[in-house]
Amino acid sequence: MSIILGIETSCDETGAAIVRGGQEVLVNLVASQVDVHREFGGVVPEIASRQHTTVISQLVRKALDETSEVPDAVAVTAGPGLMGSLLVGLSYAKALALAWEKPCVAVNHLEGHIFSAFLGDPKPTFPFLALLVSGGHTMLLDCRAPHDYEMLGTTRDDAVGESFDKVARLIGLGYPGGPAIQKAAEQGDPSALALPRAMRKRGNLDFSYSGLKTAVLYALRDNPDLNPADVAASFQEAAVDMLIQKCLQAIEETGAGRLVIAGGVAANKRLRERAYQDLPVDVFIPPFAYCLDNGAMIAAAGDSLLEHGCIANLRQTANPAMPLTAMA
Ligand code: KG4
Ligand code: ZN
Repeated sequence: MSIILGIETSCDETGAAIVRGGQEVLVNLVASQVDVHREFGGVVPEIASRQHTTVISQLVRKALDETSEVPDAVAVTAGPGLMGSLLVGLSYAKALALAWEKPCVAVNHLEGHIFSAFLGDPKPTFPFLALLVSGGHTMLLDCRAPHDYEMLGTTRDDAVGESFDKVARLIGLGYPGGPAIQKAAEQGDPSALALPRAMRKRGNLDFSYSGLKTAVLYALRDNPDLNPADVAASFQEAAVDMLIQKCLQAIEETGAGRLVIAGGVAANKRLRERAYQDLPVDVFIPPFAYCLDNGAMIAAAGDSLLEHGCIANLRQTANPAMPLTAMA
């Protein structure tokens, strides 16, 4: 069983983790930059790269100090994400692997999210459907086998996490928007505002979230006295409803028996509740800590890639738009 050091720096979290056998997390450290970016209302790419540069060495050293295990390989996110941020982690990982004379494995961040499902209990087995919901992506995938994925549907405009962030800004809640909307929604009435559920009955499995955001914008323009908690609760219910409807459709069309939900939005309590309650399949959602960006999920995906002989060389570069399904 391999011991993998996983490094994640694609956006605004620096992650370093050590995982045994792709499933057992020995150490998982995350240095969040949220406080640094908050005053700007979103992630500032140049500041993100600098922050990664400042903390990465200490974070990896701390992770190594917290276990007596010695890594067999270094796995690192090579894309998609912010170019400068990706390059910090990738350059660091390549240099470390070279110095240690150990393999370096380049991991697609989205594949990392899929593999986060193996860090929880119970664990799924392939094949399964995956709903991948983050700040930059909304995808339904048919995961046939490790590294063999077919895209069934994706967003035509905003990602669902992005819509949480934008609506949070509209109603004056802080950044990041997802947790802020969830918290405000606890005090609100989800039926206070009638919001559209885009493409609910349409044939394909694509998503669209910009209409929902615009509906919130118009509702606030027409009625500035709306209670922010009611807006948050109504928006959250509509956003979650759209995800559940598409999952139901995908389950019906494919006959799948298992569904994984991963990515930052999978941390949403209402989505977790609705998924376990309404989807007629075995649902696997990682524990909260592994939904948000972290190094453990990169180590888990890296473990499987290593087993499949996917080892990076020194020419490996970062790809901010790295596609997931081209990897198969
Ligand atoms: O996967 P992630 O950490 O980073 C990306 O790969 O994008 O996802 C971040 C996204 C943000 O849009 C954030 O607002 C959203 O996940 N998010 C949530 C929750 N926690 C984080 N959305 C809804 N409810 C939450 N509890
Ligand atoms: Zn992510």
